[in-house]
Amino acid sequence: DHVLTENDFVHQNNLRYPFEERGLQFGDGIYEVIRVYGGKYYLIDEHVERLYRSAEAVKIEVPYKKEEMYERLNQLLQQNKVESDAKVYLQITRGSAPRDHAFPLDTDANLYAYVKDLPRAIDKMWDGVETITQHDVRWDWCYIKSLNLLPNVLAKQAATEEGCYEAVLHKDGEVTECSSSNVYLVRNGKVYTHPAKKNILHGCVRMRIEEFCRQEGITFKEESFRIEDFQYANEVFLTSSTSEVMPILKVDELTIGNGEPGRITRRLQELYEEDAG
Ligand code: PDD
Repeated sequence: DHVLTENDFVHQNNLRYPFEERGLQFGDGIYEVIRVYGGKYYLIDEHVERLYRSAEAVKIEVPYKKEEMYERLNQLLQQNKVESDAKVYLQITRGSAPRDHAFPLDTDANLYAYVKDLPRAIDKMWDGVETITQHDVRWDWCYIKSLNLLPNVLAKQAATEEGCYEAVLHKDGEVTECSSSNVYLVRNGKVYTHPAKKNILHGCVRMRIEEFCRQEGITFKEESFRIEDFQYANEVFLTSSTSEVMPILKVDELTIGNGEPGRITRRLQELYEEDAG
């Protein structure tokens, strides 16, 4: 169980984090979760690009150039002999320095990445899941995949306490995304999702969904919708690197459509499977 760091690979038991670490004290860092199928990365370019975009947005210097990043990420899978379905978690913080809100001078970023088995959620994807709505109390820059996840954690916990899989977030009724996934509404054969503005994460799977829709001649509308619109939805689903394409059967007390995963959701699941396979 070897962890990639800014310097080299270390065994996870030998990884030490100083107590004055800006990721711990300020959430001053960024991260990625990358899917691995059969020991191979899925959407690696999209994730690496987003990582560098997030880093630039918060003025953190990534310890490696992109080429080296790819090399190291591949080594991470080799070193751990990953052959199955897994996820890689990678985070970069502004580094370790005496606590001060302002950036430290001459401090290098800390990076670590590890890999963990993650079987596909086959049963849930077949059956579909239930959700609750929660106010989106996050900041304006959710396109940055930052370590500040307290609002997401609280929203997901509220969902968990209701026996639900996810929390659908909304700002004054306008649906943005979920606590750790993007959300879509299908009506009259068209797929609607919040525009990729600064207030949502631009999901890597979301980009593929747009492409799948284009291929299939399904209209993909980057148009925000409201909580009330769920009552007119034929289908609702969410996507993420860990959840893939997940049918949503309920939002709060409301049953979506006929209460079963819809035709377009199923087609997108098939296309995802072909793409990832
Ligand atoms: N979450 N929106 C939010 C707020 C997310 O945290 C995520 C991913 C997504 C979907 O992005 P992608 O398709 O690139 O996985 C949307 C990861 C999986 C996580 O935090 O565990």
